[in-house]
Amino acid sequence: MNPDLLKLQAYPFEKLAALKAGITPPKDKPPITLSIGEPQHSAPSIVMEELIAHLHGLSSYPATRGTRGLREAFSQWVIRRFALPSRLLDPDRHVLPVNGTREALFSFAQAVIDRNTRPLVVMPNPFYQIYEGAALLAGAEPWYLNTLADTGFIPDFARVPAAVWERTQLVYICSPGNPSGAVMDTQSLQELIGLADRHGFIIASDECYSEIYPKDAPAPTGLLAAAAAMGRDDFKSCVVFHSLSKRSNVPGLRSGFVAGDAEVLDKFLRYRTYHGCAMPPPIQAASIKAWGDEQHVRENRALYSEKFAAVLRILQPVMDVQPPAAGFYLWPYTHFDDQVFARRLYAEQNVTVLPGSYLSRTDQHGLNPGQNRVRIALVPSLEECVDAAERISEFVRGL
Ligand SMILES: Cc1ncc(COP(=O)(O)O)c(C=O)c1O
Repeated sequence: MNPDLLKLQAYPFEKLAALKAGITPPKDKPPITLSIGEPQHSAPSIVMEELIAHLHGLSSYPATRGTRGLREAFSQWVIRRFALPSRLLDPDRHVLPVNGTREALFSFAQAVIDRNTRPLVVMPNPFYQIYEGAALLAGAEPWYLNTLADTGFIPDFARVPAAVWERTQLVYICSPGNPSGAVMDTQSLQELIGLADRHGFIIASDECYSEIYPKDAPAPTGLLAAAAAMGRDDFKSCVVFHSLSKRSNVPGLRSGFVAGDAEVLDKFLRYRTYHGCAMPPPIQAASIKAWGDEQHVRENRALYSEKFAAVLRILQPVMDVQPPAAGFYLWPYTHFDDQVFARRLYAEQNVTVLPGSYLSRTDQHGLNPGQNRVRIALVPSLEECVDAAERISEFVRGL
């Protein structure tokens, strides 16, 4: 067996199941799950109908690079969304379909890491767990960059030692961030691009929450917009990851795309051809429809905004919790052990949240930035979110 498999940690939801084992929550309170970031608003009917209308496409093998129409849908969306000059994104060179960003974030590391030179992969801490597993199975060592409240949960690249940069081949960033919802601004993205030039690494920018932001707020910027604003027309070293899962409430569709550096994507396409992960034709058709429509995305944002307003009205008087810049999570400070908090909340209120330390690692100084925080995903209905917030409030007041 591949010995690197032994380096993989239990996934956070396995740890959560172990934490809850043996507890019988109160039967008079229906269970509410706020631990998993699985969108639950309804999927847009135009997308579902398009999927059904193209089921006949199952009779042919899809190309790994997708249809030209699909790649045009990606590039046109990126151009519109990030106000980029259309000449910058060639559908034949700068975009590729992926079957959700999860597999893409994983397989990307397998394609770009040179395992012969003691590679490091820098990632935020806490982080989406795939970055770490991807690094380990690519033969690299993860290097965790704590994202703490003192920098608004934005990675502070000045904290990365020069010796680390020397060995870094890949940097994952997540903006808007999971779990904090923090959005990196143009300046910090450009600072990272400057570092990529100096040290020769590739940036993988996970932007799968980019469309979930408060309905009256400006849309979060992204890595390609930051690169273009520097006059960097070739997106050198920059690759972004976008997904329909959160934007269009279709996590089961497994549909996303990558965009950016044409040379890197050319190599990634080669990897994917052998990896064998082409997007099924009906999903390609449904994806074209989804990327071409913004009405359902606006409605989706409005639902989240309503939930944040209602839940924060209940929680802010009793908890240290701030509205996030984007995304659909709250990341409150619990003031005591996050596992104890999550376990007791479940035992007393039948509400499940995710202990923050399950999403983070202890750094070289013994600090775990997820400690004493929990992640609360506002994915259920407004009524359930309000019910959960009232139960959390009761729990916190009783501590
Ligand atoms: C930060 C982050 N990136 C990527 C993903 C993967 O999303 P998908 O594979 O559905 O595109 C998730 C899913 O929860 C996530 O939270």
